Amino acid sequence: MDADALERAALAALAATESADEVERVRIEYLGRKSELKLALREVRDRDTGIALNTLRERLESAIDGREEELRRSELDRRLTEERVDVTLPGTPVHRGHLHLITQIRREFEDIFLGLGYTIVDGREVERTRYNFDALNFPEGHPSRSPVQTLFLDPETVLRTETSPSQIRTMEAQEPPVYIVSPGRVYRRDTPDATHTPTFHQMEGLAVDEGITLADLLGTLEYLCKALFGEDRRTDFRVHHFPFTEPSVEAFVSCHLCDGAGCTVCRHSGWIEVGGSGMVDPNVFEFVGYDPERYTGFAFGWGLERIAVLRHGIPDLRELWRNDPRLLGQF
Ligand code: DAH
Repeated sequence: MDADALERAALAALAATESADEVERVRIEYLGRKSELKLALREVRDRDTGIALNTLRERLESAIDGREEELRRSELDRRLTEERVDVTLPGTPVHRGHLHLITQIRREFEDIFLGLGYTIVDGREVERTRYNFDALNFPEGHPSRSPVQTLFLDPETVLRTETSPSQIRTMEAQEPPVYIVSPGRVYRRDTPDATHTPTFHQMEGLAVDEGITLADLLGTLEYLCKALFGEDRRTDFRVHHFPFTEPSVEAFVSCHLCDGAGCTVCRHSGWIEVGGSGMVDPNVFEFVGYDPERYTGFAFGWGLERIAVLRHGIPDLRELWRNDPRLLGQF
């Protein structure tokens, strides 16, 4: 056996390896039980040859171990670079929703009145005619009592047409003083247009105490308008009629589209109505058992969709119900 040739061949084969498997094949070929070197070692007869072949075996073993280690390292390096995760790359965007504009306005409205010491009460969307009409002093034959305007579930049950029944339920349940707001959905058989939808939201308010006057109502509404619309927006309060208040006042805000000049949205008046209000009619107090000689109070019922379109310049109130994220995402 030519030991030098064997060593050169083994080292050349080793240098050509590219994987742990290949290194293992080289190991078997040159150091395995049937390898030339092992067979030669078995045949050794003299000491010098034995020493020479054993040192050759040791050199080959350490060369093979070294190559194995080298390949393991470069494999690790490769994986570390190739399989690296760039934690600074932006992730797949997750679209985040937010509260609907009407919900935002409802909460804002609630906050304004919580700040004034009012409490928030819930009402019922399915309501008795007794609360929706009788207690609120609607006379027999009033157009709202007709199925043409109102959605009846049976002759004594309606989808409430306003949040005002919450006033009655609150007063029946407690003695004055009363300072509450009550938000919720209301329903009317209206044909949808730019300023009407058959379902919409109102915020009812009621203050009953000794010595409450129309000035308190106007002051409160003025404060409300400034809080909701800012200092610059013009407001106007006009005498109106509601069965359950006397006198009654309607609140107007200058039109968001024409700023008062007159356009189709405000029906060329320059103003848009945001809600009704007034001094609670003594008949209502009598219905709930409050003494109208002792107590006075004011009430209001404002439309939340109207506030939204007026404040944000939305040209058509129906947009709030279409749930198009391109519109709703702006608020
Ligand atoms: N309920 C009335 C409506 O829906 C609004 C309203 C007017 C509410 C006067 C009130 C009020 O509380 O005092 O048109």
